[in-house]
Amino acid sequence: MRGKMWMFHSADDSKCLFSIWKQCLYCAAVACLLFAPVRTNDACPASCICARESGTVTCRDGEDTEVPGDIPKWTSTLILKGQNISTLQRGAFMTNGTELEIMTLSLSYNGIRAIETDAFLGIPRLHLLDLSHNQLESISAEAFHGLSELRSLYLNYSILPSVAAQLSNALSARSLRNLHRLELAGNQLKSIPLMRLDIYNLHALVLVNNSIETLGRENVTNLYQQRRIRVYLSLNPFRCNCELEAFYYWLKNSSQCPDAGRLLCSEPEDKRGSPVEKLRVDCMNENLEAVSYVFLGIVLALIGVVFLMVLYLNRGGIKRWLNNIREACRDQMEVYHYRYEQDSDPRLANVAV
Ligand SMILES: *[C@@H]1O[C@H](CO)[C@@H](O)[C@H](O)[C@H]1NC(C)=O
Ligand SMILES: *[C@@H]1O[C@H](CO)[C@@H](O)[C@H](O)[C@H]1NC(C)=O
Ligand SMILES: *[C@@H]1O[C@H](CO)[C@@H](O)[C@H](O)[C@H]1NC(C)=O
Ligand SMILES: *[C@@H]1O[C@H](CO)[C@@H](O)[C@H](O)[C@H]1NC(C)=O
Ligand SMILES: *[C@@H]1O[C@H](CO)[C@@H](O)[C@H](O)[C@H]1NC(C)=O
Ligand SMILES: *[C@@H]1O[C@H](CO)[C@@H](O)[C@H](O)[C@H]1NC(C)=O
Repeated sequence: MRGKMWMFHSADDSKCLFSIWKQCLYCAAVACLLFAPVRTNDACPASCICARESGTVTCRDGEDTEVPGDIPKWTSTLILKGQNISTLQRGAFMTNGTELEIMTLSLSYNGIRAIETDAFLGIPRLHLLDLSHNQLESISAEAFHGLSELRSLYLNYSILPSVAAQLSNALSARSLRNLHRLELAGNQLKSIPLMRLDIYNLHALVLVNNSIETLGRENVTNLYQQRRIRVYLSLNPFRCNCELEAFYYWLKNSSQCPDAGRLLCSEPEDKRGSPVEKLRVDCMNENLEAVSYVFLGIVLALIGVVFLMVLYLNRGGIKRWLNNIREACRDQMEVYHYRYEQDSDPRLANVAV
């Protein structure tokens, strides 16, 4: 009996509990929907969005002048964008002295002006570092120290002209030996800011939209020796004189420049805009001629246009002429027709017989 009572009670309680539980679930779901983008995890830094499943922490458009100090340990991708970080200090990504497993670090558009020694200490797994669209005016020679697994480094639209020499020093760090891709577009560079090429594992070097006028024989020899490198060089103001000869042959011969067809001369005046690849090189007589297919094309097009104009202006005459031809034809046909009828007239045939 007692057992029965107890069971009865228990069933009732569990029913009640179940309905409370259901309400709780409902409330929790609503709360989740309302607050999910802000906080899915207690350890998410203020003003950042954390997506734990993908290991991504994104902090955008804050007023912060420093890298958040409490980056979660599970972070594999950290994106800071539109912040006001003027200096990347030593160990900026170290949390409480421990290493992080970050593999992708995107720091574009943060107004970064200086990178100090050992700035990336404590993130030794880093594969991709995007520093594009900043205003670097100071880079320590040991800025990239410790990044021995780095494969892609983006520094496009980020370097002020005065800092090219410092960049060259920073990039000669031995730790960058696994570097595969280096992007340096839009930096007003006058030469390749790498002292040697054989210390990396470079496959792509992007130098698009810089201020490179010529690449000397030494650079060309080094490029020939690193057959796997592809160098992108469009939108540079090439000076098409005999200094460019070695480079010109490299361009034709090595197929290491995927955008070779888009390289244009900007000097001297008479070759401005002509494709570097289409030059005719005769440096025995100090002569680098532009074979102007463009000019030929324009002339042919003009001739075509003139021809069409003549046709158009004479359309009355042409019509008349066509009509005349047609009439002449018709007359001729009638004559034939008449002859045929006469030839096949049986009476005439009889007469002839
Ligand atoms: C960025 O921070 C510096 C101080 O580090 C401050 O002087 C400057 O006004 C800030 N700029 C913006 C746009 O917030
Ligand atoms: C830093 O690490 C120490 C020991 O490793 C720990 O006691 C302390 O709570 C940590 N502080 C923070 C802010 O995580
Ligand atoms: C510049 O950097 C960005 C990464 O922020 C990359 O997606 C882009 O392809 C790079 N290259 C150019 C030429 O902008
Ligand atoms: C080339 O770079 C300059 C800045 O150095 C930029 O203003 C310009 O838009 C870039 N041109 C192209 C075609 O990307
Ligand atoms: C390319 O040429 C520049 C200027 O002559 C030089 O400073 C640089 O070390 C050369 N780099 C390579 C890889 O040949
Ligand atoms: C083309 O490349 C080969 C091998 O690198 C070299 O021996 C040859 O001289 C080059 N030809 C020209 C015209 O530069």
